[in-house]
Amino acid sequence: MLAKPLLLLLLLYCAACHTQSLQLINCNATQLQAVRNVTSLTTLRLHNCRLEQQQLKNAIFLRFNQLLSLELEHSQLNSLEDYALHGLARLQHLSLANNNLSLIKAWSEQPLAALTSLDISFNALIRLPAHGFEQYPNLQLLNLSHNRIEHLEPDCFHNLSHLKHLQLHNNHLQLIAASYFHGLHRLSGLGLQHNQLKQVEAASFESNTHLRSLHLEQNLLADLKFLKDAGLTRLVHLNLSRNSLEQLQPSGFSKNFELQALDLSYNKLKELQNNSFIGLESLERINVSHNSLEHIAVDALHPLSAVFQLDLSYNRLKTLPENLLHGNRQLKHIDISNNQLSQLHPGLLQQLTHLTQLNLARNLLNEASWLQRLAPGLNRLALRVDLSSNRLQSLNLSSLLFFEQVQLSDNRWNCSWLVKHMLRTPPTALNFARSWPMLSAWSVQQLLNIRGIDCFDGQQNRSIVLLDVSAARQQTPPDCDCKSSQESNIELYTLTPPLTWPRIRTDRFDSRSVIIWMLAAIALAFAGLRWGQRYMDRKERSKKLKEIQDKQQLIRVEA
Ligand SMILES: *[C@@H]1O[C@H](CO)[C@@H](O)[C@H](O)[C@H]1NC(C)=O
Ligand SMILES: *[C@@H]1O[C@H](CO)[C@@H](O)[C@H](O)[C@H]1NC(C)=O
Ligand SMILES: *[C@@H]1O[C@H](CO)[C@@H](O)[C@H](O)[C@H]1NC(C)=O
Ligand SMILES: *[C@@H]1O[C@H](CO)[C@@H](O)[C@H](O)[C@H]1NC(C)=O
Ligand SMILES: *[C@@H]1O[C@H](CO)[C@@H](O)[C@H](O)[C@H]1NC(C)=O
Ligand SMILES: *[C@@H]1O[C@H](CO)[C@@H](O)[C@H](O)[C@H]1NC(C)=O
Ligand SMILES: *[C@@H]1O[C@H](CO)[C@@H](O)[C@H](O)[C@H]1NC(C)=O
Ligand SMILES: *[C@@H]1O[C@H](CO)[C@@H](O)[C@H](O)[C@H]1NC(C)=O
Ligand SMILES: *[C@@H]1O[C@H](CO)[C@@H](O)[C@H](O)[C@H]1NC(C)=O
Ligand SMILES: *[C@@H]1O[C@H](CO)[C@@H](O)[C@H](O)[C@H]1NC(C)=O
Ligand SMILES: *[C@@H]1O[C@H](CO)[C@@H](O)[C@H](O)[C@H]1NC(C)=O
Repeated sequence: MLAKPLLLLLLLYCAACHTQSLQLINCNATQLQAVRNVTSLTTLRLHNCRLEQQQLKNAIFLRFNQLLSLELEHSQLNSLEDYALHGLARLQHLSLANNNLSLIKAWSEQPLAALTSLDISFNALIRLPAHGFEQYPNLQLLNLSHNRIEHLEPDCFHNLSHLKHLQLHNNHLQLIAASYFHGLHRLSGLGLQHNQLKQVEAASFESNTHLRSLHLEQNLLADLKFLKDAGLTRLVHLNLSRNSLEQLQPSGFSKNFELQALDLSYNKLKELQNNSFIGLESLERINVSHNSLEHIAVDALHPLSAVFQLDLSYNRLKTLPENLLHGNRQLKHIDISNNQLSQLHPGLLQQLTHLTQLNLARNLLNEASWLQRLAPGLNRLALRVDLSSNRLQSLNLSSLLFFEQVQLSDNRWNCSWLVKHMLRTPPTALNFARSWPMLSAWSVQQLLNIRGIDCFDGQQNRSIVLLDVSAARQQTPPDCDCKSSQESNIELYTLTPPLTWPRIRTDRFDSRSVIIWMLAAIALAFAGLRWGQRYMDRKERSKKLKEIQDKQQLIRVEA
């Protein structure tokens, strides 16, 4: 009856839970009417269905009176007739996502009292009418994201006193008026990200006393006055990333004392003042990366006594006050990479005993004596430090011996200092090298990843290539038909590696000095090998000589 190539009919019977679900893909209204045995059906999924005039007729689901969950998605629905949902008295979950609906209505004579979740995301809604959701008094989850909503009528969420999660992200809202969320006493998660919000009126969240998570990222907000007045005292997660904030109001967060995560990244903040973060005693993670910070007041971060993750990367910081982190003893992860720090005060990290990650890459640091002044109680075995792409010329290596990892590549190492310290094999936790792709004739067309270090000896930039000679020896030369003298051949190959360089910016790369360094290193290694071989040869020869002498003696004795 329903056997059509494009029609997929799945009838699943779940014996254990006595629910029956039906999924129709690529169906039409006739086929929907033809579905028999609907009295026990609890879940109905209609995807990609072509209904008459892209409309849902009145009381079309009247027969499905046991339905708990109804999904009608990707079906180009333009509208639902006024009583289309009539009869779905037990319905708990309704999704009309990915259609073309432009109007919200009750769609039922009686309230859908059981409905707890309604998803109208990815439609064409432009405005939400007043009292639009009145017939769904028990909604807990309402997803209106990815529409074109510009405007909400006052009281549009009237009577939704059970609503917990409201998604309005990816719409065209420019303003949050004080009346919008009025009366949503149980609201705990509100998604307003990806709109065009310029203003949030002062009392907007006044009655949302249970709000835990507020997403405002990707908007055009220039100030946070609404936070100061409303006092979202139970807010835990606040995302303000990608807005237009240029400054933080004094004591602007002072009432958000349960806040644990604050994301202020990708704004235009120029400074953090001594009173910017007052009250944020529970804050655990703060992100102020990708701003224009040039100045941080000495005690700006002091109120953050519980913070363990601090991100200040991608700013314009040139210095940090010595006592900046003295109130933040719980800090574990610090990211200050991509700034313009030329030095770090030795006392800055002195009190941080929980530190496990410190990222200072891509700054202008020219010395790192502060590494010797870390907290005595710090577990160095668990500490990872990134100092790559700075201006370091030398380091006290013995102070780094017990760290889990230290990245040191791309600095201005003093060549003679470096060579001196590379002669003793440095611990594997220290990484000076970066990898260079290199073409090699050993394995035609295949890129060898060779590790190398840049250094600077006053007049010239040099590069040291680290070649693991033992690894090189294992590479058999291609097309070698010379089995007889293989040993000497391998030696030959290793001594004169036929390398060709791929395109590498020549200003950073002095290939002649590389070859020289490389040859020097290899020559040194093979000098040792040769010496060993000669020693063995000589021993062999003297042994043979002795045998001959012994024989001669024997002959003499016989004679
Ligand atoms: C619905 O689909 C069935 C089977 O594909 C077809 O026989 C019937 O004509 C269709 N009805 C309409 C109204 O398109
Ligand atoms: C209707 O479903 C019930 C159980 O779900 C089953 O016992 C019965 O045979 C079905 N009837 C038809 C006509 O499919
Ligand atoms: C969506 O609805 C609008 C009217 O609300 C209509 O103009 C448009 O053609 C519809 N789009 C599709 C794909 O049906
Ligand atoms: C709508 O939001 C809810 C969570 O609030 C989510 O579970 C659901 O997947 C969203 N709908 C779509 C189509 O993404
Ligand atoms: C609001 O919801 C209550 C039940 O929570 C209901 O009794 C009342 O009729 C609803 N108000 C309106 C205007 O629908
Ligand atoms: C804030 O939102 C951005 C998306 O713009 C996301 O990448 C980031 O992870 C969010 N921050 C937090 C702390 O969840
Ligand atoms: C913050 O700094 C200003 C001067 O810039 C000073 O007047 C004020 O007392 C300081 N506030 C606190 C809490 O330290
Ligand atoms: C900011 O940092 C937090 C951790 O503190 C992280 O979860 C979030 O993804 C970061 N935000 C962006 C935009 O990367
Ligand atoms: C290098 O560091 C070690 C251990 O931190 C310290 O004992 C030594 O004095 C330092 N050497 C110099 C030259 O600073
Ligand atoms: C490099 O270090 C050596 C001592 O190890 C020092 O004599 C020399 O001046 C340094 N060179 C530069 C360019 O700093
Ligand atoms: C050496 O390299 C640095 C960058 O790594 C560059 O700024 C400097 O001009 C180079 N000096 C010479 C002499 O090539």
